[in-house]
Amino acid sequence: MKKTFDAVRLRAQYPCLRREIEGKRPVYLDSACTALKPRRVAEGMRDFYLNRGGCGGKRSANLFSRGVEALAVQARQEVADFIGAGSADEIVFTSGTTEAANLLAHAFPYRGRRREVVLTDLEHNSILLPFCEAARRGDVVLRICPTREGRLDLDRLAGMVSARTALVAMTRSSNVFGGALPAAEAARIAHRQGACLFVDDAQYLSSHREDVRAADVDFAAFSAHKLGGPFGVGVLYGKRRLLNRLGRYKVGGGTVRSVGWDGKLPLPDYLGAPAGLEAGVPNFGGIVGLMEAVRFLRDIPEDGLRRHIAGLAARAAEGLSRRPAVEVLGRPEDLRQGAIVSFKPAHAGFSPIDFNLYLNHELRGHFIAVRVGEHCAHLAHRGLGAPATVRLSFFAYSLASEVDLFLDALDGYLSSVRRGRA
Ligand SMILES: Cc1ncc(COP(=O)(O)O)c(C=O)c1O
Repeated sequence: MKKTFDAVRLRAQYPCLRREIEGKRPVYLDSACTALKPRRVAEGMRDFYLNRGGCGGKRSANLFSRGVEALAVQARQEVADFIGAGSADEIVFTSGTTEAANLLAHAFPYRGRRREVVLTDLEHNSILLPFCEAARRGDVVLRICPTREGRLDLDRLAGMVSARTALVAMTRSSNVFGGALPAAEAARIAHRQGACLFVDDAQYLSSHREDVRAADVDFAAFSAHKLGGPFGVGVLYGKRRLLNRLGRYKVGGGTVRSVGWDGKLPLPDYLGAPAGLEAGVPNFGGIVGLMEAVRFLRDIPEDGLRRHIAGLAARAAEGLSRRPAVEVLGRPEDLRQGAIVSFKPAHAGFSPIDFNLYLNHELRGHFIAVRVGEHCAHLAHRGLGAPATVRLSFFAYSLASEVDLFLDALDGYLSSVRRGRA
């Protein structure tokens, strides 16, 4: 039987949506910061810790360990299938997108004249800063591709990518402007010049299905917690031959076949990917939680989910555009492609920080969670002419009525500003 998408029914899986705080029910429009966790994820992890709990990998070979290792193998395969990877060996478990980007920035084999890294100015600090530090160390030359209204101009990108480019790194969906950036086209541009493409899927996978092989991206990263999974676990995907060309970033237990002696120093014989890139005991509980989050998302019909989120983004953008005291970032047709709608004040009395306090403390019966600030995307905020923006972000459980509650609250706040709010 064909499954249909039903956000209201899905909400039953999220006990925290029913939990009142200070007598107020939550209206959660901050899923880009972190998605709430469905029962299935929490129960999967509870079962793991209560009933399994041993250490997997090749460390111990008792029955407890073997069971945990079997789960980790299964999780790697299911995550690989979820993003369309060719093999489970292309999935490296990390602590999140940030660690994945740090790993790549450190370990990428920049060679000879091919030392440039091209990034868009939309990048989250977790992508920007590792490459920025690589540039400060003198490992790479950083080139920033400017965007307009959250749009990547592919001709401009093509003009910056050359035979000196080692890597192009770009977000698949900006955490400020939302939308969706064209990975397959960027991959073609990078590959024409012999460079690799790294995509940041942190904000993309919550409402899209990535297909890394169809888009032909070379590396991709994401965090479990933005999919409804646990904190502290994520993935670096890489084409197998490329992962095996990476240098050393984090080394330690679980990364070697053996350690010999070269006459002067211990001589490690490192394993290939993924084990060679996953030093230390993995976050097995987190990996199980990630697998449950992937299963949960996999069970949601993709077209229904996309339509639902596009409808919420369009409703928010349209409602905001009718309020001259605010200015929506990005174009309506782009916003429909993502799960985020941000705006900046266009009225002198509108203070995003004060507005945030209003949303949390001055509404009756509910509070509204959004995010206010620079969203760890300082480059993207340069030139916006506002120290802070307000971001609404959606997940499968978000409702149109929540967007309407937000717009009503905005009107309430704006009238209090006009009345000379202290
Ligand atoms: C677009 C984007 N990339 C990367 C990250 C970093 O994710 P994490 O902190 O889970 O590593 C975030 C988190 O907000 C993000 O929005």
